[in-house]
Amino acid sequence: MNRIAWGITGAGHFLAECADYLVNLNNVDVFLSQAAEEVIRMYRLESKLSPARVIRDTMPSAPVVGRFARGVYSVLIIAPATSNSVAKFVYGISDSLITNIFAQAGKSQVPIVVLPTDLAPEMDSRGPKGNVVKVYPRPVDLENVAKLRQFSGVTVVKDVEELRACLNTYL
Ligand SMILES: Cc1cc2nc3c(=O)[nH]c(=O)nc-3n(C[C@H](O)[C@H](O)[C@H](O)COP(=O)(O)O)c2cc1C
Repeated sequence: MNRIAWGITGAGHFLAECADYLVNLNNVDVFLSQAAEEVIRMYRLESKLSPARVIRDTMPSAPVVGRFARGVYSVLIIAPATSNSVAKFVYGISDSLITNIFAQAGKSQVPIVVLPTDLAPEMDSRGPKGNVVKVYPRPVDLENVAKLRQFSGVTVVKDVEELRACLNTYL
């Protein structure tokens, strides 16, 4: 069976849709950034995600990344991906669980699919209480997504539907 590694960062945008999708997959290990743990609680999604096998960001050296070199996972999904994590991916920074799994998946030639939150200069997002929040991603955020699209082995998708279609090609 193909196992999926699914990283969640501290983003509210796309979070509920990603949670709905991933809990219906039965071969997923979920990796959480420290901010993701907080944001998941704010959006009251921790019970929805509780059946998933979760790996938390507790060890700076991230020894769990060895699983990518050992071929445990056929694909890495990062969804949703904050502008912070996308910036770190693009500049090769590996100082957290999520940035380490992104780097190690790349070094192990495991395909990566990323759903960034910051995809357009203006967007409507939902706050934890369901309120609409206007967000205006900065040029640097959009440029980093454009740079990520150029990475070999990385597919950037624009919504959960596209993520679903992309993931199906790896299963
Ligand atoms: C309620 C809430 C929602 C957030 N949603 C987003 C988001 O959609 N996109 C984003 O780039 N950052 C968002 N953030 C900010 C990130 O959580 C913050 O930049 C964090 O440091 C990212 O860390 P990580 O990339 O390691 O998960 C949100 C923060 C809060 C409190």
